[in-house]
Amino acid sequence: MTERFPESPQFTGHNAPCRIECDIRDLVVEGTLPDDMQGTWYRSVPDPQYPPMLGDDVYLSGDGMVSAFRFEAGHVDLRMRYVQTERWLNERAARRSLHGRYRNPFTDDPSVRGKGRGVANTTPLYHAGRLIALKEDSRGWELDPQTLETLGEFDFGGKLRSQTMTPHPRIDPQTGELFFFGYEAGGVATRDVAYCVADAAGELQREQWFEAPFCALMHDFVVTKEHAIFPCFPITADLDRLRQGGPHWVWEPELGSRIGIMPRHGDVAEMRWFTAPACSGFHYINAFTDGSLVHVDMSLTDVPVFPFIRTDSGLRIEQYEVHGALERWTFDLADPVDRIGRRVIGPSGDLPRLADSDAMSDYEILYYERYDPSIGPPITTGAVGPGFNALTRLEVKTGRMTTLPMSPRATLQEAVHIRSERRGHEGYLAFVVDLHDEDLSEVFIVEAQNLSLGPIARIKVPMRLRSGVHGTWVARR
Ligand SMILES: [Fe+2]
Repeated sequence: MTERFPESPQFTGHNAPCRIECDIRDLVVEGTLPDDMQGTWYRSVPDPQYPPMLGDDVYLSGDGMVSAFRFEAGHVDLRMRYVQTERWLNERAARRSLHGRYRNPFTDDPSVRGKGRGVANTTPLYHAGRLIALKEDSRGWELDPQTLETLGEFDFGGKLRSQTMTPHPRIDPQTGELFFFGYEAGGVATRDVAYCVADAAGELQREQWFEAPFCALMHDFVVTKEHAIFPCFPITADLDRLRQGGPHWVWEPELGSRIGIMPRHGDVAEMRWFTAPACSGFHYINAFTDGSLVHVDMSLTDVPVFPFIRTDSGLRIEQYEVHGALERWTFDLADPVDRIGRRVIGPSGDLPRLADSDAMSDYEILYYERYDPSIGPPITTGAVGPGFNALTRLEVKTGRMTTLPMSPRATLQEAVHIRSERRGHEGYLAFVVDLHDEDLSEVFIVEAQNLSLGPIARIKVPMRLRSGVHGTWVARR
C-alpha cells in the first residue's frame, strides 16, 4: 500500500490507525486482579483498514475492530479481530477504500453501488448467547464470542425488516428482553423508525414502524419498566443534500427537539411527542417510570459535540465553547400540556455507565468520563477531539462526586462496569488508558466504590489501542 493515511487529527497521534489483529496470551499484570472478575470484556473500535477514498474522513467511518479481554483465574488474554463486513471484504479485495463520504452512499466508487457500507464499529451487544457488532446505519454483524470470527449479517433469522439497528439496545435485567430500534429503517434519510422487542431467547417478537417528526440522528434511546423513550434532537439528514454529495448530518436548531414516549409493550400509535428547545444528546444514562412520571437522565450539550457536524453546518464554535451537563428530564403523562421538568444532575461528560441491574429503575450511582482542564491541556484522541482525563462516580440523588484523574499526558476511554459476586460490593470498572508519551495503552481496574484508591491492577498492553466507542462485559457462566 503506497497511499498514506492523512495527516489530520482523526488519523494521527493516538488516532493513527492500529490495524492489528492479534492474540496475546497472558498480558503482564501489575497488581492483583480480583478473583471474582471472570469473564470477557468486548470493545468496539473504529480502525480504518485503508486510507479514505476522498482524502480525509471522520473517525466514525473506521472499520469495526472488536477486542476481547478475557479474564480468567488472575490471567488476561487479548484477542483482536476485524468485523468482516461486506464493506471490509470488498475493500480488502480491492486493496483500497471504495466508500466515500461518511454515510453518503452517493459518493461511493461505482463498483460498490448498492452494496453494504456498514462498518459495525460502535457496540458489541451480547444477548441470548450471541455477540453482535452494531453500528446504527446498518444491521449488526454476528461474531463467534470465543474466536471473534465473523458469522454474517444479523437479521434475527430473516425476521427483521428494518435495514438498521441502534448501537444502544436496552436489556431488561429482570426479564432478559431486548428492546431496540432502527432509524432510517426504510432507507437513507427516511423518517422511518422500527421499534423492536426480542425475548430473552433472542427471538424477535415484535417490530413496529413509525415516522419520526424529522429524520434525526437517533443514536440512543432508553426504556423503563413501562415506557420506551425516543429522542429527536435536531441533527438531521436530507436525501437531496446527500444526492448532491453533501454531508449526512446538519444541525438545524430551528426545528427544536422532540421526545417520543410510548408504553414499551404498547402500539406505536400511542406515542406522545413532547416538544423541547433545541439541544444535542447522544447518550441516555437511564430512565424510570414512577406513576404518571417518566424520569429520563441524559448527557446533553447546547450544540453538537462532534466537530465535523458543526463544521458541516457552518457553525464555527471551538470545542471548549460547547457547553453541556448531565440532566434529568421529567415528563408527566397525566398532564395534557407538554411541560418538561429539567434539572442538572452532574457536570458535563459522556459515556455514562451503571450497573446492568440498575437499568430501567430508580437508581443511585452512575459512572462517566469528563474532560477537566485543571488536570491538563486537551489531548486529541477519539472521535470528538479532546480526550477524557477524569473518571467520575456520581451519586445521582445527592450529587456527591468522586473523581479519579489521569496523569496530564494520559486520557481514558469508556469504562465498563463489572459486577462483583461479593454481597454489598459495588463491583469494578475497567477502562483503557491512553499513554500519549509512550504511544502505548494500559487497562486500569478500579474498585467502583473506591475510585480514589486508584487502580488495583494495571494490565500492560504492548501496543497503542485506538479509542473505542462502547464495550460490554460478559461474565463467565
Ligand atoms: Fe453511543
